[in-house]
Amino acid sequence: MSADNAQNVPAVQTQNLTRLYGSMTALDSLTLTVNKGDLFGFIGSNGAGKTTTLRILATFLAPSQGTAAVLGHDVVKDADAVRHVIGYMPDFFGVYKDMEVTEYLDFFGACYKIPSSKREKTVIDVLELVGLSEKKGALIGALSRGMQQRLGLARVLIHDPQLLLLDEPASGLDPRARIEVMAILQELQRLGKTIIISSHILSELQTLCNRVAIIEKGKLIYTGPVQGVRDQMNTGYVFWVTVREDASRALELLKPRPEVSEAEAVDGQVKVTLKDHTVDPAFLAETIVRGGLTLTGLWEDELGLEEVFLRVTRGETQ
Ligand SMILES: Nc1ncnc2c1ncn2[C@@H]1O[C@H](COP(=O)(O)OP(=O)(O)OP(=O)(O)O)[C@@H](O)[C@H]1O
Ligand SMILES: [Mg+2]
Repeated sequence: MSADNAQNVPAVQTQNLTRLYGSMTALDSLTLTVNKGDLFGFIGSNGAGKTTTLRILATFLAPSQGTAAVLGHDVVKDADAVRHVIGYMPDFFGVYKDMEVTEYLDFFGACYKIPSSKREKTVIDVLELVGLSEKKGALIGALSRGMQQRLGLARVLIHDPQLLLLDEPASGLDPRARIEVMAILQELQRLGKTIIISSHILSELQTLCNRVAIIEKGKLIYTGPVQGVRDQMNTGYVFWVTVREDASRALELLKPRPEVSEAEAVDGQVKVTLKDHTVDPAFLAETIVRGGLTLTGLWEDELGLEEVFLRVTRGETQ
């Protein structure tokens, strides 16, 4: 049985993966598992080592130390086997602006030795999948940025790889185009692909990915489910409370509560940081109502996760 048919082999397994550029350590002993079927978010700020890791997994860059395997194939010793099972989308789009969409995809299909009799149908299928069928005769240079990103996705799908390595596929896109790309990724996951997507925005991936890894300065800081980030970092979480009465009255009620680590009034609203993620926020509403005030709003801080990420990557939580 070949390695990628083995039942329990992970999609990606790195062990103490390290990469130096000269004397600079870009990747520092990264040990990471991505399971088959994961839509895996790989998160870190600029220079954290995301592209370096993805390039190693895509066999474009050799590790300095440690190992990495893709579906059981070692990226150094079995590089050819790895290339067949991955689709790598780099963080920049190549210079193919004068090519037509179909011509471009046909060219990559030929690179993967898909016979010409099958290529036409494959190209039609991948264009359909990324919602670009109507643009098949267009010049690449005439596509919008979002369409170019989707064409990039079509390209990495042409040889039907099991694992997609996507380096910031949503960067530079407007919110609507981002949502479209995310929807395509969900569809691909449903079709059984394993997907690794890098980003420097944790909240962008929170509803998309079932698991994430956060790296900073080449080191793994966290890996697990998105919801676990807060728990592990023990940063608490933030809610906003509004009442019909003056915010200071709500503040007086909430501040002394044992579940609350911080509370302050901001622009007529009360910002409450809870001690940890195990606290049930229902007590906030109960406290307000029992205190005789009228609750008009209670919601979780949407920036909370991004704040957590910033604190984590600044090393404030360890
Ligand atoms: N070819 C290279 N030569 C020297 N240093 C490099 C090279 N490529 C990357 N680095 C350095 O390695 C570190 C990691 O870079 P990498 O591109 O992997 O980060 P990244 O997480 O992808 O960042 P970004 O979010 O900006 O894309 C950075 O400090 C970068 O300057
Ligand atoms: Mg990068």
